[in-house]
This record gives sequence, C-alpha cells and structure tokens, in this order.
Amino acid sequence: MAGGEGKFSCTQAALSVLEYDTLKTVHIKSKKVGLIFRILQLVILGYIIGYAIIWQKGYQAADQAVSTVYSKVKGVAVTCNDLNVTSIRNCSDSDIRVWDTADYVIPPQESNAAFIVTNSVQTSNQTQQPGGWPEDPDASTKGSQRAYTCEKNADCEAVRFSPSRNGAVSGKCDLATKRCMVYGWGPVELSKDDDASQVLGYPRQMPQVKNFTMFIKNTIFFPHFQRKFGNTGLGNSSASYLKSCLWNESTDRYCPVFRIEDILSAAGVKSFEQDVMMAGAVITVQIRYDCNLDKNVETCAPEYRFTRIDEPNNTLSNGFNFRFARYAIGEVPSRDLYKVYGLRFVFIVSGTAGKFDFVPLLVTFGSGLGLLSLATIVADLLVTKCLRNAEFYYDRKYEIVNEDEVEGEAINVTIRQKPEEDTPLLH
Ligand SMILES: *[C@@H]1O[C@H](CO)[C@@H](O)[C@H](O)[C@H]1NC(C)=O
Repeated sequence: MAGGEGKFSCTQAALSVLEYDTLKTVHIKSKKVGLIFRILQLVILGYIIGYAIIWQKGYQAADQAVSTVYSKVKGVAVTCNDLNVTSIRNCSDSDIRVWDTADYVIPPQESNAAFIVTNSVQTSNQTQQPGGWPEDPDASTKGSQRAYTCEKNADCEAVRFSPSRNGAVSGKCDLATKRCMVYGWGPVELSKDDDASQVLGYPRQMPQVKNFTMFIKNTIFFPHFQRKFGNTGLGNSSASYLKSCLWNESTDRYCPVFRIEDILSAAGVKSFEQDVMMAGAVITVQIRYDCNLDKNVETCAPEYRFTRIDEPNNTLSNGFNFRFARYAIGEVPSRDLYKVYGLRFVFIVSGTAGKFDFVPLLVTFGSGLGLLSLATIVADLLVTKCLRNAEFYYDRKYEIVNEDEVEGEAINVTIRQKPEEDTPLLH
C-alpha cells in the first residue's frame, strides 16, 4: 500500500516539473487607488535616484586613503630650578633653565603623535649606593605603591627585598621617618614635590607652551585612483604666507601651522594654565578629507577637528604624564629622574574619495528597485483594508476557501491512517 502510494507521488512530483503557474491579476479601475499606487512608486523612485544615487553619490566608486603625518613644534620655555620663587622674574641667573624643541618634545619623532612637556618634577643626581636610601616620608603605607613602616631594623629585615614605593626594602629602619630604607635610585622622588607641581605658580611649569606653534604636515594617497593630496600648498601657498600664517577655522583654514592655545580652545579647553598645563592632557587631531574626483578640482582640502579625550575629572589619574631618566656616565652611574606632564597630540587621518563608475551605479539602482515591491504591498493593504469599498476589493482579490469545504478530504486522511478499516479511496 505504502509503496504504491510512494510511486504515485513520485510520478506526480516528476510531472509537476512540466507544469506552469501564472499569477491571476486583479485589475482595479479606480483613479484613487491608481493615483496612490503611482505616488508611492514615485516616492520610492525619488528615493532611489534623488537620495541613494545623487545625494549619497551611489554612482561613485569609493577609495580609502593611506596617510602619513609628522609635526614640528616651535617655541622656547623658561623655568626656574629654584623651587621657592613664585615668579620667573625673581629667578636668579644661575637657576634659569631654558627648554627648546629638543628638550620638550619627547620622543623627538613619533609616528602619528607628538608630546610636549608643560610641567615637570625633577629629581637630580640619583645614584644607587650601598645601604640604600631613606624612603619618601609621605609615601602611603597601604596599597601596591606602599612604603613599609618600622620601629627597629628587625621590622625591615623581615620584609627585605619587598618592593617598596621607590625601591626594594633594604632591611634597615630609618628612625627619622619610621620607614624602611630602600635599595634603588636615590635620593628618591618625593611626593611633596609632585603635589607642589600641581599648584599654579610652580617654577617648573611652562605657561609659554600655549604660544608655541605646531606645523602639521600630512599627505594622503588613494591607491585605487593613484592620486595624492595633502594639507600644505592649499589656498595661498606662497612661502612668505606659510612662514607667518596661523591656522584659523574661519580666516586661515588652509594654513598648516597651529598655535597650541588655538588647538586647545577648539578642543573645548577653557584655560591653558588651569585646565591642562599642570596635569597634562590628550588631544586628538582629526584630519578629514572627503574628495569628489568627478569635480574638476586638482586638490581636495582637509577639515580639522580637535577633541580632548583624556578625562579631566578622573580622580585616580587625570591628564597625561610619564617618567624618564637621563643618565650620566661617571665613576658611579647617576641619573636625573623626570616626571613630565604635558600635551599628547594624537593625529587621526581619514580620507575617502569617490569617482564615477558604472558598477556601483548599477548596484545602487538594482538594490533600490527591490524597494518598489513595497509600493505594491502598501497599495494592496490600502485597497483591501482602508478604502471605502475595501471589503468589495478584498472579495475580488482573495478567493476564500473554508475549512468546511475541505472536510471531506480531511476525513479521508484519517481513514487512511487506520489500516483495519476498509477504505474506499485506496483505488
Ligand atoms: C603669548 O603671546 C602673547 C601675544 O604675543 C603675549 O602677550 C603673552 O605674554 C604670551 N604668553 C606667554 C605665557 O608667553
């Protein structure tokens, strides 16, 4: 029985390949419906042509730029090594310390970034001596950056070589500060110096940095179109202009030389001295190119956007700082330890170029055409649900088949599943 039936449906399936289905169409002669349908089609066509193709430049092939940036900072800053003066004018000749480009740009060349010192804490002539050094008396005695407290040498002996704030515990107690001495570079950096550096007027702060200028040179290349662009030589490219100009959003937007304070105020920094000089900051310099190579332009100009991305209100660690040492070679190796605060600029270049091409045009148009079926769906809904004669249209469009009418068929199915009963429909 089952075999015969299987053969039957197999033949049936094979034969169905040789059949053809066509859709029955209901043609509605209604001006209202026709108008709605055409308007919907027009809106969708308008979207495809007006928005996707023309406005979004769907007719263009796109290319992403590869780029390189370097920067040069100019300016001179003066600080005072005598930490008791409150104004640089009171600094004695022998304590004056001048910082030039080679001093305050650290490291001298970085790819896609630049750092300028604006404030520093210096611990000079550190050496490593047998017996170690007294630990910072203000160092915390808790946490990972701890110093060990003691009453007698035995207290320190117990934790010998444990990492302390500024070195490794030596095993001797410094009775003056009640803290274990440390092996390492000393005299150690004192946190009271660091605290003093965060008060306006500290003689190693460098207010002159806000008047420094930064020349940003950037070139971009579109590998697909084999075209090169850059941020120099736009607009007025005479040598005398480039030597003296300063970038300004509205009047000198092609000038590649930026005053630091202009960058900071474009990034939303209100006061150089109050907000960034003491603790430092991280600023992104976004350089954006959007080139339309169909227009007859030889150049396409960048747009700059500046954002401060460190969190100034972060209590754990705000701004930007790091430590480094300058070593002196002598009988006993020695070094000057610097903790520097400053401005880190991060350059982010993005460039896109578009040029007419048939393939993207066809792709945009083709994918847009798919949307046209929306017009049919919406018009169908309107006609069969919303219009005044909706029910009439509905009846003409949909042939309703009730379950009652197929009941006979359903009974036969149940009968067939019971083998003990005789079933007239088997033949
Ligand atoms: C920055 O430049 C302005 C104008 O040239 C000058 O008046 C000001 O004193 C300078 N500021 C510092 C801190 O050097």
